[in-house]
Amino acid sequence: MAGELDRVKDDIRRRSDIVELVGQRVSLKRAGRSFKGLCPFHDDKTPSFTVNPEFGSYRCWSCGAKGDVFTWVMETQRVDFFEALKILAKEAGIDLPKFGEKRGEESLDYEAAMIEALAFFKEELGKSPLARDYLKERDLDEETVLNWELGYGPDIGEALAMRLKKKGFALPECKSLFLVDQDPSGGYYDRFRSRLMFPIRDERGKLVAFGGRIIGTGIPKYINSSDTPLYSKSRVLYGMHKAKEAMAKGKRAVLVEGYLDVIACHRAGVTDAVASLGTALADEQVRLLKRWCEKVVVLYDSDAAGQKAADRAAELLTAQGIQVKIALMPDGEDPDTLLRTQGPGAVQKATERGISPMEFRIGQLKAKFDPASEEYWREVPRVLATAESPLELQKYLLPIASEYPGIRDRNAATKALERMVQAERKRAAAEKSGRTWHEDVPVAHTIQANEELLKQLIGPERVILRALFEPMLSAAAWKACGLPHLFATDAGARMAAAALLVLEKPPSGNPSAWIFEIKDEDAAMAFTDLGMGEDNEPVTEEALAEAQERLLRAAEHREARELAASADSSSDDALRELNDRLRKLKGDQ
Ligand code: UTP
Ligand code: MN
Repeated sequence: MAGELDRVKDDIRRRSDIVELVGQRVSLKRAGRSFKGLCPFHDDKTPSFTVNPEFGSYRCWSCGAKGDVFTWVMETQRVDFFEALKILAKEAGIDLPKFGEKRGEESLDYEAAMIEALAFFKEELGKSPLARDYLKERDLDEETVLNWELGYGPDIGEALAMRLKKKGFALPECKSLFLVDQDPSGGYYDRFRSRLMFPIRDERGKLVAFGGRIIGTGIPKYINSSDTPLYSKSRVLYGMHKAKEAMAKGKRAVLVEGYLDVIACHRAGVTDAVASLGTALADEQVRLLKRWCEKVVVLYDSDAAGQKAADRAAELLTAQGIQVKIALMPDGEDPDTLLRTQGPGAVQKATERGISPMEFRIGQLKAKFDPASEEYWREVPRVLATAESPLELQKYLLPIASEYPGIRDRNAATKALERMVQAERKRAAAEKSGRTWHEDVPVAHTIQANEELLKQLIGPERVILRALFEPMLSAAAWKACGLPHLFATDAGARMAAAALLVLEKPPSGNPSAWIFEIKDEDAAMAFTDLGMGEDNEPVTEEALAEAQERLLRAAEHREARELAASADSSSDDALRELNDRLRKLKGDQ
C-alpha cells in the first residue's frame, strides 16, 4: 500500500510542472536554472522566492516557505494531502488507484451509520424533558442546539443499537465506530447513555465522531469516540469546519479547551475558536491550523493543568512557526461561564489579553519561586532559552539579570546570564539532535537543521555535492562522495553518506528522483537548498577537480596530524601506515 502511494507520488511529481503550477499564482522570471518571483507566503518586497524545475520544489529565502507540488497545492488551496493528490493527479492525467477500494465502500457505510446515529441523538433530545432541562440550565438556546447539532443519548441502554440494526447497519461495524459496545454475552449496547451529544465534524464537515457530556454530574464527565476508521483524534479540531473561514480571513485561531468553550466563543462572536478533543494538542492539529492561520491565541483555564497545557501547546505551535499568544482565563472561569456571567464582550476581551509565551513563562516562574532563591535562578536560563529570536532574548536579559541578589555589575551579570542561556540552548539542541530522523520532527526544527548543515559545509564540499546534479560530472562527484574521510566537516560527511545510501550508481536525470528518496530529511532539504541556492551556475570540471584536490590535501594534513599525535611517527611501521592510509584516501589502492 505504502509502496503504491510512493509510486503514484513519484509519477505525479514527474508529470507536474512546478513552474507552470506556481506560475498560475506568482509571476516568475527565469534566473539561471531557477525561476524567481515575489513570495506568496509573506509580504515580499524583493523577489526572494525561487522555483527549481529540476528539483520540482520551491523555496523562499526570506520566510523559509518551501516544498514541492504537493505542499504547494495543500497550502495555496488549503486542502489536505489526499485532496492535493487528487487535484494533481487529475491535472497530470493520472488515474489514481483506489487506495483501499474495499475501505472506500465500507467508509460509505460507516458515514451512513454515523449520520443515522446523529439523527437519532437529535430526535432523542427533542423527546427528553430531562435533556431539555439541562440545556436550559446551561443556557443553550434553540439556535445553538441547531447550529451545533446537539443531541441526546438516552439512558435506555440499547436504543441506538436497536435503531442501527433495524436500519440494516452491521453492529460489529457500529462497534468499530464507537457507537455501540458488546457485553460479555455478546449483546450490543449504546456507548453514549444519558449524555448531551456533540457531533464532531472534520475540517471539511464530514461527521467523524461524537463527544458526550454526562447530564448533571457523574464520571466520566465526557466520553469521546476513540480513533475509528473515520476518525483520528489527533487530526481533528472541534469546530474547525465552522471556524476555518474566519481563520483564513483574520489569519488567527483561538484555541480553547472544550466543546462548550468553542460553542461559547462562537456565540460571543469569536468565530475562529476551535478545541483539541479530550487530548493535548497534537502536531497534526498544529499542521492543520497552520494551513489556515498564522497566529494562535491559546485561551485555556488558569488552573495548574491549564497553564501546563498552554505552555506545551505554545511550544508545539511555535516549533511550526506559528505566532503564539497565551491568554489565560480569569480565575475559575472558562469561556462558557464567562459568556454566561459577563456576556460576549468579556469573551472577546479575553482573547485580546494574550501575552508572549516567554512573558508567560517568566510570569509562571515569578509566581512559583522567590527571585532570591536558588530554584529561580536554576530555571531562568531554561526559560530564556526558549526565546524565539535574539531580539526577544535581549529584551529580557538585562531586566532579569538586574534581579540577581546582591548584584554589583549589571553588565557582567547580563553577560553571565547570557552564557548560561547559550549553554542551555546547546544542551537542548544536543538532546534534540540525539533523536533519529524518522521521528516526527517539527518543521521549524527541520528548517534550522538543514540550514545548519549548509552553514557547516566548506566551499570545496559544496562544489562536490553540487556536482552530483551535473550530468557530465555526477560520476566523478559520486566517486568522491565514496572516498572515506575525504569530507572535512560532519555536515559534508553526513550529506555524502545520505546521497550514497540512495545512489547505487552515479546519478543521472532529474535529481529530485534521488533527493526525495533520502530518508535523512535534513540532508535531503540541504541538497534541495544547495541546488536552488543563489550561486547556481553549473559547477565546472576544473572546479570539481580543484575542490577534490583541496579536500584531499586537507585530509592528508588531518591524517598526518592524527598519526603524529597517536604514535611515534619516526618508526617505520607508522610511516608505512601513514602511506597506506594516504593511498587509500586517494582511492588508488
Ligand atoms: P472541562 O472539564 O473544562 O469541561 O473539560 P467543560 O468543557 O468546561 O464542560 P463543563 O462546562 O464542565 O460542562 C474541557 C474539555 O476536556 C475534555 C472535553 O473535550 C472537555 O470539553 N474532557 C474533559 C474529556 O474529554 N473528558 C473528561 O472527562 C473531561
Ligand atoms: Mn465549562
